[in-house]
Amino acid sequence: MAYPDAAIFDRKSYAKVTRPPLQAEPLPGWCYTDPAFHRREIERVFSRSWVCVGRENALPDAGDYRTVELGGTKVILIRGQDGKLRALNNVCRHRGMVLLKGSGRVNGILCPFHSWGYGLDGSLRGAPNMDRTEGFDKREYGLAEFEIAIWQGFIFVRLEPGGPAFEDTVGELDTLLDCYDLPNMRIGGSREFTVNCNWKLFIEVFMEDYHLNAVHKNSIAGTYASHAPEVADGVNGDFVTIWDTHEGTSALLTDERHKALPPIAGLKPSELGTRYVLLYPSFAFACTIDCMWFFEIYPDGPAKTNVAMTMLVPPSTLARPDFEARFEAYRTRWKVSMDEDIVVLERQQDGMETGRYRPGRFSHLEPCVSKLASWIVTRTID
Ligand code: FES
Ligand SMILES: [Fe+2]
Repeated sequence: MAYPDAAIFDRKSYAKVTRPPLQAEPLPGWCYTDPAFHRREIERVFSRSWVCVGRENALPDAGDYRTVELGGTKVILIRGQDGKLRALNNVCRHRGMVLLKGSGRVNGILCPFHSWGYGLDGSLRGAPNMDRTEGFDKREYGLAEFEIAIWQGFIFVRLEPGGPAFEDTVGELDTLLDCYDLPNMRIGGSREFTVNCNWKLFIEVFMEDYHLNAVHKNSIAGTYASHAPEVADGVNGDFVTIWDTHEGTSALLTDERHKALPPIAGLKPSELGTRYVLLYPSFAFACTIDCMWFFEIYPDGPAKTNVAMTMLVPPSTLARPDFEARFEAYRTRWKVSMDEDIVVLERQQDGMETGRYRPGRFSHLEPCVSKLASWIVTRTID
């Protein structure tokens, strides 16, 4: 059974969504299932926003590249001979072949179809058998370039030009993150996986403490004994954040915390805990006392989300001889807790897909879910 079509883009359908969290309702079910609503999100949310596409130091040298797909748009992230990182359209200017797959290092970008060759900066350098083509000028057929921003060592891309500068989007978020020295953190590990749920559900479960006791009872719930996250309401920027005070690291299973890596140097007593952040629309991350982890979110239709998860540690931690041995316990924690979340998320998507979900209300432990819902409405509904 489908949700009623007529109501999907009617502002009246969202009157209760945009209220303050403790007065608000969640988004209607169609926002998680409907193809037309999803297309609207790709067009107005993903194409017009700064979207995180990974870590700058994952592509250190000229020719290093990685491909990503943002709501159907294929992008090559590639480091040029000039040291500059670019985001290029991954589609050949000749007749539309996808150019690169996966990641690696290249001297140039060669189309596998008819061998048009592009430089690392996207300019067309070679085009065989085009000498008789009238008025053909290679300078007019370079790859389109998307806007790019680097912040705290993360790469952001915006597909449609215009709109606020990255600095205006991020606002005062830096002030909450200074203590972690994020630009210098190194990649400790990463993994990619697919979840059969809407991209917003994936983010929502990451940003709320309400499910911890039920879903993570035997894995990580014990870390967050206080269960009273603080919301940073007075800080400007296009993000939401919660702060959980707790002892030790939140990146290990509760009963494995004796395996902890050393804490980040210089943390003050008030900085012992975990900061969860969602920089709209989809850059979700957590910083705790010894590491941080973040998600790149790539929606693939309304009910499927491709996720790249990366864990960062201070350089001194990565250099420890026992790093890999200890880090194994961190990987286990992320795998166990993520698998617990995925079971719930795919079942939640099933509930949404029935067409018979009618929105409930939020607990005080879900303010960020409510705020994301409100933000989505402002971006998608006229
Ligand atoms: S499609 Fe790329 S060279 Fe023909
Ligand atoms: Fe969870």
